Amino acid sequence: MSDRAEPFVIDVDTGIDDALALLYACAHEEAQILGVSTVVGNVPLAAATRNTRAVLRLAGRADVAVWPGAPTALSISVRDASEIHGKTGLGHAVLPEPEEQAGALHAVDSIIAAARAHAGRLILCATGPLTNIALALMREPELPRLVKRFVIMGGAYAEPGNVTPAAEFNIWHDPEAARIVFRSFGGVGAAPVIAIGLDVTRKTIIDEGDLAAIASRVAGKQHASALTRFLEDASRFYFERMEKTYGRRIFTMHDPLALAVALDPTLVETRRAAVDVETSGRLTTGATIVDWRGQWGRLANAEVAVAVDAERFRRLFFEAMDRLAEGAGAT
Ligand code: RIB
Ligand code: CA
Repeated sequence: MSDRAEPFVIDVDTGIDDALALLYACAHEEAQILGVSTVVGNVPLAAATRNTRAVLRLAGRADVAVWPGAPTALSISVRDASEIHGKTGLGHAVLPEPEEQAGALHAVDSIIAAARAHAGRLILCATGPLTNIALALMREPELPRLVKRFVIMGGAYAEPGNVTPAAEFNIWHDPEAARIVFRSFGGVGAAPVIAIGLDVTRKTIIDEGDLAAIASRVAGKQHASALTRFLEDASRFYFERMEKTYGRRIFTMHDPLALAVALDPTLVETRRAAVDVETSGRLTTGATIVDWRGQWGRLANAEVAVAVDAERFRRLFFEAMDRLAEGAGAT
């Protein structure tokens, strides 16, 4: 662990892109991963938790604590995203069954404990629905003043949604939680929500040629085969789905970009604005509404990503996978 390491907590609903985000984090020794909390979203909580443990083990980080969190959204029970991520949540990939972590602490208590123990230094990154974060805020309203940086993969700010024309999946899955989160961060002395939405994640894509290039570059390295087999098997499901829906075999790097920004905020250009979440619109539930012109007269609670250095992000991702193949994550 480098002495420049920064304490991280990552909140995930491990599906395929969450898995790639976790692999990316494990390849960065400057991220001291205190723990990974899991939440219902792409798949039920138990699957998200199991997948998270299995992916951390693949990255050589079975030592990282995994904290199960909310099994249901705060408000409405909605469908999952298994049609995108597969029944297991990891597409066609099959990973060895991870050991159970006896006595795993609950996500909400663990997020709060980590923020208090690393007050002013913790970097919190959420790549799933915001249910755990909202529950943590209800128990510790000081959370926004305890974290150094809070990054979410969520929202669609000047873009159509991906679940409905108005809403992106993570916000749509628990709009009440998202509203609590956006209304709690960004005040005086509090970190803003760094909102990595579809506006920028749709600009960060990889394809099967990129994965083949990783595989040929790392061939023969100590951890290469298990890693590249996972990358190919997990993302193949996603490619098949995207081809069926959009006619293109591409992989949109939603969650890996959010993690990359949590590590290096200079990857995106942001604009400060007030953001709120629609929770009861017949057509617009889950929409993230941005007050670009200050018409609400409210505090600007978010830094909304409006541009991304996609090429530099892709390069950082490929370099991270190369390091993992050499055993970077292994403790
Ligand atoms: O809309 C994309 C987001 O929804 C990603 O976090 C993906 O994993 C799903 O949770
Ligand atoms: Ca996710």
